[in-house]
Amino acid sequence: MKVTSKQLRKMWLDFYKERGHVDIGAVSLIGDGTTGVMFNVAGMQPLMPYLLGQKHPKGTRLCNVQGCVRTVDIDSVGDESHCTFFEMMGNWSLGDYFKKEKTAWSFELLTKVFGFDKEKLCTTVFAGNKNVEKDDEIVGYLLDAGMKKENIYFLKENWWDLPGTVNTPCGPDNEWFYPRHDKPCSATCDATCECGRWVEIGNDVYMQYKVKEDGSVEPLKNKNVDTGFGFERNLMYLNGLNDVYQTDLFAEVIAFIERQVGKEYGSNEEETKAMRIIADHIRTAVMLIGDVNGILPSNVGAGYILRRLIRRALRYAKFLGLAKEQLTDVAKIYINNVYNEAYPLLVEKQEYICEELLKEATKFDRTLEQGTREFNKLVGNLAKFAPDVKTISGDKAFRLFDTFGFPLELTEEMANEQGFSVDKEGFKRAFEAHQEKSKGVAKGEFKSGLQDDGVMTTKYHTATHLLNAALKIVVGPQCHQMGSNITAERLRFDFPCDHKMTSEELARVENLVNDWIKQGIAVNKEEMPKTKAVEIGAEAQFIERYPDVVSVYTIGNVSKEICTGPHVANTNELGHFKIAKEEASSSGVRRIKAILD
Ligand code: ALA
Repeated sequence: MKVTSKQLRKMWLDFYKERGHVDIGAVSLIGDGTTGVMFNVAGMQPLMPYLLGQKHPKGTRLCNVQGCVRTVDIDSVGDESHCTFFEMMGNWSLGDYFKKEKTAWSFELLTKVFGFDKEKLCTTVFAGNKNVEKDDEIVGYLLDAGMKKENIYFLKENWWDLPGTVNTPCGPDNEWFYPRHDKPCSATCDATCECGRWVEIGNDVYMQYKVKEDGSVEPLKNKNVDTGFGFERNLMYLNGLNDVYQTDLFAEVIAFIERQVGKEYGSNEEETKAMRIIADHIRTAVMLIGDVNGILPSNVGAGYILRRLIRRALRYAKFLGLAKEQLTDVAKIYINNVYNEAYPLLVEKQEYICEELLKEATKFDRTLEQGTREFNKLVGNLAKFAPDVKTISGDKAFRLFDTFGFPLELTEEMANEQGFSVDKEGFKRAFEAHQEKSKGVAKGEFKSGLQDDGVMTTKYHTATHLLNAALKIVVGPQCHQMGSNITAERLRFDFPCDHKMTSEELARVENLVNDWIKQGIAVNKEEMPKTKAVEIGAEAQFIERYPDVVSVYTIGNVSKEICTGPHVANTNELGHFKIAKEEASSSGVRRIKAILD
């Protein structure tokens, strides 16, 4: 390495300290709730009150290197430059210097200290909009600093604000670009081209406005400068590289993975992508768990993002042949060798970070294989029986989430890989329906859909399992219980189905159930740990809410469901099964009412 990551940190801070700035250090990665942003996405975020006019205790010239987490680009991770965690080298003027000084310093730092070629260095500046005029002023300063005129471009996109917020500071910006290589994609390929050749290495924002609710802006008390230079990307260029994963931040982790799985980084596209994803996601997970306000995986908010990162990393680890325990070895490299100086808290929390990481990976590992099998079966069935269907139903995606812990985005990713999409709206509906039901379960309502435990309701309960099994055969494997209600007179069963069932289909369902009744199949109940029940493929509706030990009811090889019962001992007790009604329950959900006579 020509310049190590540890040296670059110092180069940035020294440069600005020499120009009167105070290093204010980094703050937590987790949003403090004041802006509604989940993570710290920019170095300026903790400085919001001061950019809006409050006096900062350390003065008007500040600098730091601040960790940020941006997960909007999570699907782009796997290429040479995207990361979910990254550091931003920042410096600020709070009503102190403005465009002239900042422009000169940025140019000096990039060309003299970092040694970027000024022939290749490009910059984009604000072209104006209905609220604020074109930034002609800055062009003069850029030229004075030594910038080549033909390397300056006007763009109306050169405006920066904190996405999704109001009453926050904003302003025109001056973005710095450097080409990854000298091969233009076309005759018109310049810094504004999106071919991937041009990487933004830094951004100087002239924060002199506040964004209002209606989208208009009003001037701030102070004219501020807010700077963010990407640590990883600058480190990459400083070392003459084209790939951030080859910098010393990742090199040891990549080498470790290569050794463990016996594969070479860069030799195969899919494997290289997997290595980058593991390296990126585990780094972010370490940072989030080990943060001063550290979080843990969960099903909501920031915890859900963390869960997605760890589960996605595990999926790619499996693809490469890396064991889940080795993910903690990856974590330890970051903690002890890469970030030990800049983030000493990680070293202190090492054991905790690794334990939590392994706990989450283990949790998912138990169901990953089974869920993947279920997913492949589903896709295989669609390809075979319904080749025109290119969408995975929301209910199926929900089942993968609820029973196997597949984050929706993971199912989507797997689906996309095979040319399918996922019905996200349907997933949302299934999720909400589940929450409603869960609330009922928590309140002791709908005890497994049973209103009383009489002889008839017991029979209807077993008949419900048979109906569920028959629907899987006739309508498709995606069928499962979305709602159930049983009285002494009838059963009612809701299930995902995108069409009104034909009379042939209904007849087939009736025949299947009646055949099973006639066969006199024994109904067996077995208690087992919930995890085992999932492993053996027992169907479940409320997997998160079940106790650790559950009852699994098995009806021969027809049906296997986690259930509180009660059930009849043998299907021959049920009599004759008849569908009384088939109707729509909600969009994509059908309802059957059936009787035993
Ligand atoms: N706040 C600016 C950015 O994040 C510097 O790009």
